[in-house]
Parts: sequence; structure tokens; C-alpha cells
Amino acid sequence: MELPTLQHRLVTARGLRRRDARVLEQALGDNRGWLEPWEATTPFIRPGQLSVRSSISGLLAAAKAQTALPLVLEVNHEVIGQLNVSQITYGSLSSATLGYWIVETVAGQGITPVAVALATDYLFFEKGLHRMEVCIRPENTASLRVVEKLGFRYEGLRRRFIHINGKWADHFCFALVVDEVPRGILARYEGGQVPPGVADIPEIDWVKARNPLPLPPR
Ligand SMILES: CC(C)(COP(=O)(O)OP(=O)(O)OC[C@H]1O[C@@H](n2cnc3c(N)ncnc32)[C@H](O)[C@@H]1OP(=O)(O)O)[C@@H](O)C(=O)NCCC(=O)NCCS
Repeated sequence: MELPTLQHRLVTARGLRRRDARVLEQALGDNRGWLEPWEATTPFIRPGQLSVRSSISGLLAAAKAQTALPLVLEVNHEVIGQLNVSQITYGSLSSATLGYWIVETVAGQGITPVAVALATDYLFFEKGLHRMEVCIRPENTASLRVVEKLGFRYEGLRRRFIHINGKWADHFCFALVVDEVPRGILARYEGGQVPPGVADIPEIDWVKARNPLPLPPR
């Protein structure tokens, strides 16, 4: 897939390049404590064992195979984060899943909601995807606000769903299908037309998420 450059006054989202390795390494290192609790890890692989370079190679290979859209986020021509769309499938699913991070110094400026909207609109309207999903740990209040602001619809709790910071972690999952946003997510968000309450999480799922999945004794 050719990687696009998506622009907005708050942020530019452009295709990841091999030469981003050094600046990403620096940003990830400087923001260790900020990112670590939310960082996807791989079972049986020590954190830090995979270099930024090899992770870029993996992402670019997936982009070539049309299963990923790896973007870096820039503000004033400086790299401030990443937005990766992965598990892109076409055909009868035509769906994908999206993740993101930014450096702490630019948090709270509404950059991520805009970047998520830009990437999702691109995949819906330029690439013909039908559904976009975002899955978030129950403890990640800031990220839950991102999907709430954009009106991603709550779909449910997935137990021990993604390996995060060394452990299988429950996630709340949210999605949007293109039919819900015929004029685009960004236009709906900026036009103040996000329907209230669609991202609300039922109390029963909060209760479940506060209690670990019961497992049989080992
Ligand atoms: C989640 C994250 C991407 C949000 O990005 P963002 O561009 O700051 O998003 P927003 O500006 O819309 O802020 C979202 C919420 O973050 C919180 N927030 C605002 N400023 C903040 C700050 N300085 N520090 C921490 N949280 C802050 C607020 O609750 C805000 O909601 P509000 O706008 O209703 O007040 C960012 O916090 C981040 O990178 N966190 C670490 C990595 C991570 O959690 N990735 C997502 C995994 S699912």
C-alpha cells in the first residue's frame, strides 16, 4: 500500500520510513514511564529485545502486504508519535484495528482524535474499508476519552485480549462502520455532531473488568 500523507492544522500523519528509527528511539526512550503501562509486548520476548529498526521493518513489510498502515505523527515537522492501523482485511470483513501513542509534552491538545479521524476516513473513503476498531485497557482513561470524543461505538469487553507490558490484559473494544459516518469521522467530530453516549460502557462490564477472569488452578 502506498503510504499517504494526511494533513490537518493540528497534526500531519505520514507514512513511516526506515530513517525514522533514530527519532522514534529517542522519543520512546524519553517517554518510557509515560508509554510503558500501555505498550504492546510479545509473549516470550523480553521487552527491549526487539529493536525499533526491526519493528519498523515488520510494519513496512505488513504495509507492503496491504495488511497495515503505519503512520508517524508530526507537529511542526517534529515526530511526536505513531498511529498504526493493523490487521487490515478486505473482502467480506473489510475491517482493521488501530493503535496510537504520542509524547507526553503534546498530550491534551486534541492531536490523537484528529489523527484517528484522518486515518479512519482515509481507509473508509480512499481504500474502501467498512469497519475500524480500537481496543483500550479499562485503566487508560485518556485513551477512552479519545474514542468517546469521536463517537466510536462500544462493542464489548474482551478478556485477556492483548499482551500489554508483559501481561495478558482485558480490553474494552469500540468500533465504527462507514455507514455510521457517511460524511466522515473528522467532519462529524469537528461539526459537533457526535451522538452522545455511544461509547458508554455498561456497569456490568466495568464490574467484570475490575475482577480478573477466573482461571483453573495450574
Ligand atoms: C491516549 C493518548 C494517545 C491521548 O492522546 P491526546 O492527543 O492527548 O488526546 P486528547 O488531547 O484528546 O486528550 C485525551 C484525554 O487525555 C487526558 N489528558 C489531557 N492532558 C493530559 C496530560 N497532560 N497528561 C495525561 N493525560 C492528559 C484528558 O483526560 C483528555 O480528555 P479531555 O480532552 O476530555 O480532557 C495519549 O495520552 C498517550 O499517548 N498515552 C500513552 C500511550 C497510550 O495510552 N496509547 C493508547 C493505547 S490504547
